[in-house]
Amino acid sequence: MAKVLFHRNNELVELITGDRLLSIDDIKSSLISFGCMRGTCGMCTINVFEGDENLSEMGERECNTLKKFGHCLKRTRLACQCSIKGDIVIEKL
Ligand code: FES
Repeated sequence: MAKVLFHRNNELVELITGDRLLSIDDIKSSLISFGCMRGTCGMCTINVFEGDENLSEMGERECNTLKKFGHCLKRTRLACQCSIKGDIVIEKL
């Protein structure tokens, strides 16, 4: 299991290691807005405060979408495109 802590409201969610951040209904419904689930709309953009090494590598589609929306920061990710490998602290942008 891996813990996802939401920086702004201290809400904590546990995920199975290897799950995508947007694969859990609790997160989908209340904590991270989402749209396409394919890495193209940018609605699920998050800022990773801690544990960026605990997320899967960024793919070309995710990188291109983040650039398209002006999010070129190292710790900015698309929640629908990354899988979790360990504990992280995030905030929805
Ligand atoms: S839901 Fe569209 S990019 Fe993640």
